[in-house]
Amino acid sequence: MKNTLIAPSVLAADFANLQRDIEMINASEADWFHIDIMDGVFVPNISFGMPVLEAISKHAKKTIDVHLMIVDPDRYIKTFAGLGANILTVHYEACSHLHRTLQAIKAEGMKAGVALNPHTNVALLEDIIKDIDMVCLMSVNPGFGGQSFIENTYSKIEKLKELIIRKGASTIIEIDGGVTDKNAKKLVQAGADVLVAGNFVFKAENPTQTIVDLKKITTV
Ligand code: DX5
Ligand code: ZN
Repeated sequence: MKNTLIAPSVLAADFANLQRDIEMINASEADWFHIDIMDGVFVPNISFGMPVLEAISKHAKKTIDVHLMIVDPDRYIKTFAGLGANILTVHYEACSHLHRTLQAIKAEGMKAGVALNPHTNVALLEDIIKDIDMVCLMSVNPGFGGQSFIENTYSKIEKLKELIIRKGASTIIEIDGGVTDKNAKKLVQAGADVLVAGNFVFKAENPTQTIVDLKKITTV
């Protein structure tokens, strides 16, 4: 039986009640906290930064999965390690020296993730896949929560899975954007290991139950 990890995206939380929402995730069946950091340059939106992550870290009792949507992320690797990030994901499109960046993340004791925009071919990871702990496939164009899922993601997952197996890598696959109860099972069947869900969880009438439902749907 496969236990798919569920990572609610805090971007969709109620920031005026952030502690309440964090405690809800702590007490739920969710596995990770997904934290979206946007700089207004790599993506056309600014989310939140270090002081907010510091506040989240103080209360979060689960793995902190930080998704950096920023240019030149090397500048902040040490900072995010100090703020409690357990997994640090950078964008393929934002790194000129991806191998060096991944080594720097690992040197700080974090797992290293690489995110791909919807237009970026998974084959570009051929020579680096063994150095990547997690690939985050964007199933929306990064920058905003609440967008609709891009259907081409399924075939990207299959291609990525094939690459991981062929290279003998132990990389896991995360899907980020537009995840709902409608696509969750199919994503897992295609090879996803971690599902990020923002609006679908936090805007639900009963977020705790929604997480239970997602866990159930994705246990295959
Ligand atoms: C998009 C972010 C996502 C987003 C997901 O740029 O990386 O993590 O918060 O939100 P939903 O699940 O609402 O699409
Ligand atoms: Zn994200």
